[in-house]
Amino acid sequence: MENTSNTISQIREEFIKGSLSENEVESLPDLQFNKWMQQGIDAKITEVQAFNLCTVSAENKPSNRIVYLREFGNNKFYFYTNYQSKKGIDIAHNNNVSACFFYPELERQIRIEGTITFAEKEKCDSYFNSRPRESQIGAWSSPQSKIINTRNELENILDSNTSKFSNQVIQRPDFWGGYIINANYYEFWQGRRSRLHDRICYELKNNKWEIYRIAP
Ligand SMILES: Cc1cc2nc3c(=O)[nH]c(=O)nc-3n(C[C@H](O)[C@H](O)[C@H](O)COP(=O)(O)O)c2cc1C
Repeated sequence: MENTSNTISQIREEFIKGSLSENEVESLPDLQFNKWMQQGIDAKITEVQAFNLCTVSAENKPSNRIVYLREFGNNKFYFYTNYQSKKGIDIAHNNNVSACFFYPELERQIRIEGTITFAEKEKCDSYFNSRPRESQIGAWSSPQSKIINTRNELENILDSNTSKFSNQVIQRPDFWGGYIINANYYEFWQGRRSRLHDRICYELKNNKWEIYRIAP
């Protein structure tokens, strides 16, 4: 353990691939997000749509996990999950969340903060219906974040649901659907030499987006 720990203390990367200035960014943050997401897709970033979602529990304890962004626009960011999961319970108590995307190949990070609302039922249905059948059965079969005794238990539920749903259109379970992060803050981070990175922020104040730079 000591060796690995020593090794990581010696790893250093110079960030040299780009720069970001308040004069060049888009006037609206979702346009800037769209631009960086498209550049991420073009650069074939692995799991470009995956982001780290932070929620806070009723006891004020934060927790993180990766989820997939499934839709965005107008400062709304959609992801889908089990409403009874740990994150779902956190969100029911505290609708403030943060999100973080990391694109190492472009030396970029995007941070977003906002409040959560439920995604529209029609969107949840249409996204659920677009998922492969196995994922639909999986959604029905996993009591996400609950303690289970064995993997077998889970596989038994899956088998029994597979038979139950055979030859049927599978409806979305009520406990599974989407959330929208309604963004009120963004930070676009571009790595630079000597740790003097560029950080350009957008903050929603009185219905207007203020743009400013913060120190690295
Ligand atoms: C690349 C990746 C993508 C994931 N996407 C999702 C997702 O879109 N929705 C989801 O509920 N879980 C997703 N997960 C699983 C979550 O990280 C997490 O294990 C799960 O949602 C339970 O989290 P919770 O117990 O904090 O609620 C993903 C995990 C990885 C590694």
